[in-house]
Amino acid sequence: MNSLNAPPRTLIKSAEDIEGMRVAGKLAAEVLDMITPYVKAGVSTLELDKLCHDYIVDVQQAIPACLGYGGARGRKPFPNSICTSVNHVVCHGIPSDTKILKNGDIMNLDVTVIKNGYHGDTSKMFVIGEGSVLANRITQIAQEAMYRGMKVVKAGAYIGDIGEAIQKYVEAERFSVVREYCGHGIGKVFHEDPQILHYGKKGTGMRLEAGMTFTIEPMVNVGAWQTRLMGDNWTVVTKDHKLSAQWEHTILVTETGIEVLTARPEEDLSFLQN
Ligand code: MF3
Ligand code: CO
Ligand code: CO
Repeated sequence: MNSLNAPPRTLIKSAEDIEGMRVAGKLAAEVLDMITPYVKAGVSTLELDKLCHDYIVDVQQAIPACLGYGGARGRKPFPNSICTSVNHVVCHGIPSDTKILKNGDIMNLDVTVIKNGYHGDTSKMFVIGEGSVLANRITQIAQEAMYRGMKVVKAGAYIGDIGEAIQKYVEAERFSVVREYCGHGIGKVFHEDPQILHYGKKGTGMRLEAGMTFTIEPMVNVGAWQTRLMGDNWTVVTKDHKLSAQWEHTILVTETGIEVLTARPEEDLSFLQN
């Protein structure tokens, strides 16, 4: 059983890969830091996209991984450099000059950069101006859900441990976990094995080993977990049109826990120590 659940060797990053992932992760985190002061009522999501695009390309001399991504099987490639998912949009929202942020909105801004061939993928929520109690609560619970998932990761743990930690926490708060989209292995490839489900049972699935790099990115809904894909073939919304929130980090598995490759200076990650 244990040997069957061991990860294939190809998912264990070399020391050189890990160094590359640290650089890419840091750049992705720095895009979120850069854009934060611009995220306020009155700005369009397309303006945010342009600021991020130009920063990634001109300042970081990196590549925005989302731009032109995922064009296979008849779907048009993603047209922009970041995803901006507002209110009932779960993920993969397309920036637009007509989507102007207003007081009370919540938005996930998701950025992935490629530097020297390696990917760094991270996202955070913004509450625009004064959010409702519910808007603030779903935002905070989604972040804590991500942290609960991160906390159980170390060599020898199972992927199912992450899903159970997240699902138990979210459902105890009477919110729901999106099923159709998950975290993912990441490295020279944007989305690679393993899939990191944000629900499940501990002790199941692949056993984790030091040197694996993947994302944890739970999407948490106020209402039901079901989603619907819009006609643009990208924008994912909640079926009941209630609010959804998401946070994402790229992490490295170590013998004793994790290294958060996309950590931002403002974040308190001291919970990982105990
Ligand atoms: N960054 C997203 C993720 O967390 C993927 C976005 S793909 C895009 O995996 F094409 F929609 F940008
Ligand atoms: Co991701
Ligand atoms: Co992402």
